[in-house]
Amino acid sequence: MSLAGLNMAEDTETAIMELVQLDARARQLEEEVTSFQHRMADSGLFTDEHVIRILDAHPRDFLAVSRMGADSTSYEWSEGDTTGLCGADLLAAVRKGRLWLNIRKVTRFHPDLSALVERLYAELEQKCPQFRTSRHSANILISSPNALVYYHLDLPQNILWQLRGHKRVWVYPIETRTVAPDVLESTLASERIEDLPYDPKTDALAQVFDLESGDVVTWPQNWPHRVENADDLNISLSTEHYTAAQLRRIRVSQANSLIRNATGLSSRSVKTDGLGYSMKYTVFLAARMGQRLLRRRQDHNLYQYPRTFRVNPTAADAVEPLEAPIPGTVPGPVA
Ligand SMILES: [Fe+2]
Repeated sequence: MSLAGLNMAEDTETAIMELVQLDARARQLEEEVTSFQHRMADSGLFTDEHVIRILDAHPRDFLAVSRMGADSTSYEWSEGDTTGLCGADLLAAVRKGRLWLNIRKVTRFHPDLSALVERLYAELEQKCPQFRTSRHSANILISSPNALVYYHLDLPQNILWQLRGHKRVWVYPIETRTVAPDVLESTLASERIEDLPYDPKTDALAQVFDLESGDVVTWPQNWPHRVENADDLNISLSTEHYTAAQLRRIRVSQANSLIRNATGLSSRSVKTDGLGYSMKYTVFLAARMGQRLLRRRQDHNLYQYPRTFRVNPTAADAVEPLEAPIPGTVPGPVA
């Protein structure tokens, strides 16, 4: 099935099915936790058959498989090897085990999915006229019954589009210091990975969403979140983007970090306008020419999780240990 299959007439011969059902203002979409609905589930793009086809066509360097523990307060995240397995094997393993399959950067490799993601953002921007985004990317997440993703934050703003299965998502307001300022700065500056110390007491501050097929949730840039699947196979689309203000915020944090590292002076101001911002942006540009910070971060080379297991759909938990870990450059959790 191609994206053309989504252009089906509904009530009239010329009607084009809207994929996004949203009634929100741009400011709300960028600055508040927002839930709405989508209509991709019936498209046929995320059936077993089509997902297997995507897996078979996707470069393995951009496919990460992870497993985790059962306790959201105890970080146990490791990466696995999928050499020799086809898409059907991988899907069977995820159904059986406790795995998190991240098909990364799908818009680079699958024209149908690239068109789909661009259409989703076009609809969002049409419905919220002042919502303007760039640097779109997307990952397809296929995850086991009862799998989880630990408390973490992401650099860009995320939109989580639930396609199949059920999951619970906790989103934590950043202004209540659910992330310490120095941890946030070093995360935004790519000096540390995005997983964060987690205190279950902060759950009292969280907004909680039980997602099923057709649900979408998004939260402001850098807000911490975590995920637990219900007892069924989950397939989700995670899209990422930046608005102009969000890019400025990242640049300020990276400039703050560069200034601090170069001079020992701490500058935690995250103002994104005025002379201070202009100076920091100059620092950021000069540094980036040498270090290619943003590109390095976007290619996820910061992460060096070794691969410690091999996926095996015939094994008890669909995994078996590797005798010798394989050094890796795969990313951490994405949800
Ligand atoms: Fe995330």
